[in-house]
Amino acid sequence: MAVAALSTTFSFLKAAMNKKELLATGQAGDGREKALLNHVLTTAEKGNPLSVLNVMDAYAKTSSWFMNIGDDKGPILDKALEKYSPGIVLELGTFCGYSAVRIASQLHNEGSKLLTFEMNPDNCNIARRIIEHAGLSSKVVVVEGKFNERLELARKFLKDMNSPHFNFVFIDHWKDRYMPDYLILKENAMLGNGSGVCADNMGAIMGPADFRKYVKTHPEELETSEFKSNAEYLWWFPDSVTVSTFMLPTKLY
Ligand SMILES: C[S@@+](CC[C@H](N)C(=O)[O-])C[C@H]1O[C@@H](n2cnc3c(N)ncnc32)[C@H](O)[C@@H]1O
Repeated sequence: MAVAALSTTFSFLKAAMNKKELLATGQAGDGREKALLNHVLTTAEKGNPLSVLNVMDAYAKTSSWFMNIGDDKGPILDKALEKYSPGIVLELGTFCGYSAVRIASQLHNEGSKLLTFEMNPDNCNIARRIIEHAGLSSKVVVVEGKFNERLELARKFLKDMNSPHFNFVFIDHWKDRYMPDYLILKENAMLGNGSGVCADNMGAIMGPADFRKYVKTHPEELETSEFKSNAEYLWWFPDSVTVSTFMLPTKLY
């Protein structure tokens, strides 16, 4: 156990030292994402989302660190989904599809769907195959590209789904995009009164300072709870997840 934790920490540090490439490409640079896909396809039970998540968590704890929301913070996301029971969900930052599997497996309303954006084409392919292995392809649309550059696709999705806005948004891409992309969502009326906004990596160490400040200083717009935990697969690294309810500012009425 202690050896596995050390090896995960080492693998995290390796990815962190390659931060420039990680931020530019969305991959650690040593092929671990492709290896994860192969491991999931050969190890997890087909059509079983829980088996897929368990295999991904176990692999992250024993082989390579991954920036999935993971099994410590995952239950916070699960609780938020239970609270909002959303039909139409948006995710910013798919990576290998861990959180997409977690979210889609909890979309119980008929016709409910997740639209998820990922800038790296290889990650998109890996995520699509992992989501398919979990048996959830019919509930998830993975879009290749940056959210702010593909807004028209989000608009078309909402139109096709006959929904004026997203009922729930999970923000988990690069930290410098949390604030601007939240404002894009708000200004384009893609959030409605009562929509849930859940943000990962909101801890003081690696959280986005501007968005952290915004959720704390705009209680009339975002009613927020912060849930403290630790960063994915790293028991020694404090982190948190915020869950907010979007409320239309009164002046709009
Ligand atoms: C922390 S990972 C997402 C983890 C994933 N949500 C999970 O829990 O399994 C962040 C991902 O966001 C992607 N990304 C970063 N900026 C982005 C943007 N502006 N639009 C879309 N994807 C982006 C990166 O390529 C990376 O794969």
